[in-house]
Amino acid sequence: MNVLGIETSCDETGAAVVNNGWLVRSNIVASSLKDHQQYGGIIPEIASRRQLELIHYVVCEALDKSKLSLQDVDCIAVTRKPGLIGSLLVGISFARALSYSLGKPLVDVDHIKAHIYANFLRFESEKHVPLPQLPAIGLVVSGGHSSLYHVKDYNRFDLLGQTKDDAVGEAFDKVARILDLGYPGGPVIDRLAKQGINKELRFPRAAMPNSYDFSFSGVKTAVYNYVNKNKSVDGFDPAKVAYSFQESVVDVLVDKSLLACQRRRIKSLLIGGGVAANSTLRERMFDRAKSFDVQVYFPAMSFCLDNAAMIAGLGYRLFSKPRG
Ligand code: KG4
Ligand code: ZN
Repeated sequence: MNVLGIETSCDETGAAVVNNGWLVRSNIVASSLKDHQQYGGIIPEIASRRQLELIHYVVCEALDKSKLSLQDVDCIAVTRKPGLIGSLLVGISFARALSYSLGKPLVDVDHIKAHIYANFLRFESEKHVPLPQLPAIGLVVSGGHSSLYHVKDYNRFDLLGQTKDDAVGEAFDKVARILDLGYPGGPVIDRLAKQGINKELRFPRAAMPNSYDFSFSGVKTAVYNYVNKNKSVDGFDPAKVAYSFQESVVDVLVDKSLLACQRRRIKSLLIGGGVAANSTLRERMFDRAKSFDVQVYFPAMSFCLDNAAMIAGLGYRLFSKPRG
């Protein structure tokens, strides 16, 4: 079964064709990121206008690359929520019109859950790579969300905890802004932190005991205060700030995820979302999980950031097994 996925929740316009929920035949992503960079963050009005300009071309290219025509598509899956309302509306309207004109079913997909589902996607050349086992603990770390789930099945996600303030990616972006590193901040901090390894600078970790919730605004404010106080002092090193900030965030994400695995007696941990591209988070999670006997999965880099393959994949599962 071939599912055409459409993703337009923020600044990326994505279309993909996925076979039987896992085999990615094409995955096209166009981004309006460059148009937002001068503002230091996403401007919703610009994002939705660019979605409108790009959607038709992106869908055509996804079909071309998959060597399939619209007639070969069995179902259309589209991101329903969460996201910027204007951007979402473009994808949903486009998908609805396609579904109506072709007489093919349409499935609404939740963007956050799809980030976790990205772990089940494979290209033709990766056919042999085993798929994760369910149940699992799922950690979504993106620009807009930081949530921990007990994933019982493809269509049964129990929310265990979420951020009480900033999302992790948002904290990376804001700290990058404080350090004048540009937008988006995650990839720059990831790179810079490698040059700033140190032991003397330590930012607070919001433990939030007896809860799977997160809080990242405290560490962001601590960075802000530190930078304001020290930026003119000799020896001030943005790389050290990047390293110590990243350490405090990664520590909390790793601790809470593995605690959830241990308490729920679950042996699979699935990470997803833009921050899942972070090299320290990947290394630390694999390393620490060994002593918990937990198998950790991260999506391929191209499936960490927003993409439509994850929407098509989860759409297939929801279509085959609707929520009871
Ligand atoms: O999942 P995503 O593409 O969009 C949302 O659904 O929000 O995530 C974007 C976020 C941005 O905040 C960006 O700074 C962050 O992912 N990000 C990273 C890295 N690459 C992207 N954060 C930390 N390390 C990275 N390597
Ligand atoms: Zn996302």
